[in-house]
Amino acid sequence: MDNEKKTAPQPERKKRILSCIQPSGIPTLGNYLGALKNWKTLGDEFDGAFAVADLHAITVRQEPAKLREQTLQVLALLLAIGLDPEKSILFIQSHVPAHAQLAWILNCYTQFGEMSRMTQFKDKSAAHADNVNVGLFSYPVLMAADILLYQADLVPVGADQKQHLEIARDIANRFNTLYSPTFTIPEPYIGKQGARVMSLQNPLKKMSKSDPNPKSFISVFDEPAVILKKIKSAVTDCDGKVFYGDGKDGINNLMGIYACCTGKTYDEIAAEFDGQGYGVFKTAVGEAVVEELRPVREQYAHLLNDKAYLKEVAAKGAERASRVADRTLQKVMKKVGFVLP
Ligand code: TRP
Repeated sequence: MDNEKKTAPQPERKKRILSCIQPSGIPTLGNYLGALKNWKTLGDEFDGAFAVADLHAITVRQEPAKLREQTLQVLALLLAIGLDPEKSILFIQSHVPAHAQLAWILNCYTQFGEMSRMTQFKDKSAAHADNVNVGLFSYPVLMAADILLYQADLVPVGADQKQHLEIARDIANRFNTLYSPTFTIPEPYIGKQGARVMSLQNPLKKMSKSDPNPKSFISVFDEPAVILKKIKSAVTDCDGKVFYGDGKDGINNLMGIYACCTGKTYDEIAAEFDGQGYGVFKTAVGEAVVEELRPVREQYAHLLNDKAYLKEVAAKGAERASRVADRTLQKVMKKVGFVLP
């Protein structure tokens, strides 16, 4: 590697962390508490790159006007949660052509068998049986390109993305071995544990923005009255006591949400609502969620009125992202044997 020759001590480089979010719907309270809430801290602590993964979103059919709208909404959300576009690289994936270019190349270093084993592919092809497209199949390769282009050291992943990160590591190792060290091998970032928020209507299922029943999820942009109402109608049990336990999935879920918003432990919560019914508890949970999301919602509303600013952030982000991504792509193209333009 060319910088190995330098002997002068290098200033300690911050680790690069990268994550992306699909604009395939408005993120839920689950996305927020489980992941987004931590991104601000990660952006402060590390050298962050955060993208709106619109190329990934079209692996399932999207309505064009909606996709366009949601892409900007999600970008505004990233700003609203406090990510600083001067510090972190914030961008829209499709604005940086290197993602699609590297993904194509990496497709040729990925085996059909490996992709066939991806559990998310199996689940999604069952859910969208009428549109099992090749993009859906090679989705993890595009995700590998997202990560490897930026030489990311760390990727914060939830359980459902672990397998995809694993394959990104495999592809990177394979390429590095076949040619010479090219890609940083990304590690999963296991941070402060976010809540795994379940559906309010079926607490055995993860809360999902694509759930046909809107009462099952809270969108990060829901108005306070809507939030309170949805929590009120959350499924519980007939035991009537607030504590964390077996067979109390609905209450466990609300306790998880409340704990995440207030920082209280389950024991403290159980003590707080001892002898009170679910009604009182649900009101408290609803209010805690409203307060948790208030600054995000307010900041978001403000940003969405300023489309020119959003476009400017996207343009600057794409430029910064391209600078990093193109460097990696050039290296790859050279090693593979392409005549460089
Ligand atoms: N597949 C991820 C999800 O649906 C989104 C994503 C795309 C991503 N590219 C990524 C996450 C790169 C981390 C790193 O949640």
